[in-house]
Amino acid sequence: MTFDPQKPYNDLPLLPPAVELESRPVLKRAIAANKALAELKGAGELVPNQAVLIQSIGLQEAKLSSEIENIVTTNDELYRAFANKGAKADPHTKEVLRYNDALWHGFDAIKNQNRPLTTNLFEELFKQIKQSSAGVRKTPGTKLATGAGKVIYSPPEGEVILRDKLANLERFIYAEDGIDPLVKLAVVHYQFEAIHPFSDGNGRTGRILNILFLIEQGLLDIPILYLSRYIIENKNAYYSGLRVVTEKGDWESWILYMLKAIEQTARETREKILSIRDLMNADIEKVKAELPKIYSKDLLEQLYHQPYCKIRFLEEAGIAQRQTASHYLKELARIGVLKVIKIGRELYYINGKFLDLLIK
Ligand SMILES: Nc1ncnc2c1ncn2[C@@H]1O[C@H](COP(=O)(O)OP(=O)(O)O)[C@@H](O)[C@H]1O
Ligand SMILES: [Mg+2]
Repeated sequence: MTFDPQKPYNDLPLLPPAVELESRPVLKRAIAANKALAELKGAGELVPNQAVLIQSIGLQEAKLSSEIENIVTTNDELYRAFANKGAKADPHTKEVLRYNDALWHGFDAIKNQNRPLTTNLFEELFKQIKQSSAGVRKTPGTKLATGAGKVIYSPPEGEVILRDKLANLERFIYAEDGIDPLVKLAVVHYQFEAIHPFSDGNGRTGRILNILFLIEQGLLDIPILYLSRYIIENKNAYYSGLRVVTEKGDWESWILYMLKAIEQTARETREKILSIRDLMNADIEKVKAELPKIYSKDLLEQLYHQPYCKIRFLEEAGIAQRQTASHYLKELARIGVLKVIKIGRELYYINGKFLDLLIK
């Protein structure tokens, strides 16, 4: 069986791969990655209300995962659009918001509805991201090319074949085979991308699948480990890593890449969360001292749900009526906790230090 980038790769091998996945270097790095991930999970105990943060952390991932696919928006556009539920946003920003919705849809499905990771769920994610009514590809012709137009991979074709390979992927996900879950994650991500079940959106759907897998495996309670920043910073290795599995059966390089990505990202995310916690505590002390009549826990938490706050959010959260909410935000801006900007007729109260930490 020889691989030809121009021909649909219907010979893509089923899982598990016919090689020893857990070589010594892989096992060594898997231990380090698992440790870093466990420490990230444990950071939950250090941050009293982590649920406050996950919204914004997820939205950053939506932005970066889309950026890998050249769907680009700015933080300002994104957070404004998010604050306005997508109204008047440009097409790319809307697509990023749809990615965010798909992420939460997937999280809800596995966490609250106890649904497994299946082809049906992957199709739901794809439909939401691409706002499409299509599912698994039925028509031929999907190809992956470099920016210069050179075809580097042609995924399998034929709906039956694609569904068979996806069913095999599902079985692999749930097989009790003793493979380290993080090694498994690397294999699952390669295989999903190699199957490339959809006409577009495979990269993004596959990266949502990664976080859902970590939660499904109990390695995280909440969705906070996202690899897109690492992938952007190590983009060539991401593409070549996927390619050499296909071309040379070199699983080890790919698995090491993903383990490194997990380890580094877990560390950085933990530090980020702790910095945000420190910032929030400092704000709490400042507001308690300078605006004791205004301070409430709910109000301060509201400022950390998303970095762009509006008067309406305080109303909707039941914190205050419009007039009072407006007064609160003005006072918070006066003491420097927020800064106010006016765009058109809309006022936004921006938590600038929080924003800086989020996008760092
Ligand atoms: N050689 C390759 N083999 C398999 N998958 C690849 C290869 N190169 C890139 N990919 C995957 O394909 C994704 C892009 O596919 P695409 O359907 O366009 O996703 P999206 O719409 O999210 O842009 C990349 O993010 C990557 O995960
Ligand atoms: Mg694409």
